[in-house]
Amino acid sequence: MKILKNADIKNKSVLLRVDFNVTLRHENVVEDYRMRAALPTVKYLLEGGAEKIILISHLGRPDGKYNSKFSLKPVSDHLAKMAKKEVEFLPGDIRKECGDIKKKIQKSDKRVLFLDNLRFYDEEEKNDKEFSKILSGFGEVFVEDAFGVCHRNHASVVGVSKILPSYAGLLLQKEIEILSRLLNNPDHPLTFIIGGAKISTKLPIIERFLQIADNICIGGALANTILKAEGTSVGKSLVEESMVEVIKRLKLTDRRLHLPVDVVCAKDKDAEDTVHVSAVGKSRKDESIFDIGPDTVSLFSEIIRKSKVVVWNGPLGYVENKVFARGTDKVARSMANATSKGIFTIIGGGDTYLILEELNLMDKISFVSTGGGAMLDFLAKGTLPGIEALS
Ligand code: 3PG
Repeated sequence: MKILKNADIKNKSVLLRVDFNVTLRHENVVEDYRMRAALPTVKYLLEGGAEKIILISHLGRPDGKYNSKFSLKPVSDHLAKMAKKEVEFLPGDIRKECGDIKKKIQKSDKRVLFLDNLRFYDEEEKNDKEFSKILSGFGEVFVEDAFGVCHRNHASVVGVSKILPSYAGLLLQKEIEILSRLLNNPDHPLTFIIGGAKISTKLPIIERFLQIADNICIGGALANTILKAEGTSVGKSLVEESMVEVIKRLKLTDRRLHLPVDVVCAKDKDAEDTVHVSAVGKSRKDESIFDIGPDTVSLFSEIIRKSKVVVWNGPLGYVENKVFARGTDKVARSMANATSKGIFTIIGGGDTYLILEELNLMDKISFVSTGGGAMLDFLAKGTLPGIEALS
C-alpha cells in the first residue's frame, strides 16, 4: 500500500477523502471525533506544501438526492474552527457544475476547500466510472483517509484511486497498523463485545471472531434474535425474524459466547419509570427488551477484567433513551477501568463516540477506531476494498 509519507505533494492540489460522517443537531456538530482524528493529515498536507486540499466526504444516507439536512456546510464551518484555517465551502452539483467548481478551486485564495455531500449523487454508491472521473478532476493526487467508509465499494473509495496517484493518509495508516496487531498474534484472553440492532450484518463477524477470540459478549437488539433462536421468550422485543433460522448455524452452546442473563424491559422505548429487570426468558409478553440487566453488566465486566485485549462495537441497549443507556454506560466504565490496569481496549462505531464523550471517557480507551462497520469488516477479513484499491 502506498502511504502519504512517500507522496510528492509539493505545490499539488490534493483530493482528500475523509469520513466526516459526524453527529449534527440543529446544524451544529455535536460530536467531532472523526474530524479530530483526520486533522493530522490535513496539517501534514499543509505543512508539506500542498497547494490546495480539496476535502470530500459523505454525511448520513440522503439516498442519492440533494437534501439540505445532509449538507456538509456546518461540518465545513466546524473544520475551519477546529483547524483555525479558512475553509471555502463549495456547494453545487458536482456533475452538472463540475467545470465551475474546478474554476472556483483554481481561483480560490484559500488552501482548504470542501465539497458538499458525495451521497447527494446515486453515482457515488454505484461506483460509477464517470463520477469517479469527475471527482478525480478536482485534484492531482488522491489521499484516502476515510477508514470508516473503506468497507464500501463507492466511487470516492475505490474508483478515484484507479485514476489518480493515490496514497493512504496518516489516519488510515494508523488504523491499519493498530487493528492488524489484533489479527496477527494478539494477546489472549481476547474478548469481543458486540451490540447494535442487526444480527444480519454482524453474524459473519461473530462467526469469524469465534475462530480467534476467547470470549464474545453479545448485547443490544441483536441479542434478542439470538435468544429467540435459542427458544427463549423475548416478548415484543425487536427481532430480525428472517435471521432466526440462519442463526441456528451458530453453536449457541459454545462456552465462549456470552448472551445476556438478565434484561431491562418496558412496554415502549420512551418509557421513563415503567422499567423493570427480569431474568432472560421471564420478560412479560407485552414488553420489549431495551437494555442488558445488572447481572449481565457484572458478567461482561468480569470478562473484561480478565482479558488482555477487549474490542467493543455497538451499544448494548436502546441508548437514545437515557433510561436504557445504563448497561452501555457501565460497560464503558469497565472498559476505561480495564485500560487503567494495562488491558488494551479498542472501541469503534459512530454510536459509541457520543456515549464516550458524554461519559468523558474518550481518552480512557487505548484506541478509539473511526470505523464501525469498517473496523469489524477489517477484523473479519484482514483488508477492505478501499485499502485494496491503494495497492
Ligand atoms: C460509518 O458511520 O460507519 C461510516 O461513515 C460509513 O457509513 P455508512 O454505514 O452509511 O456507509
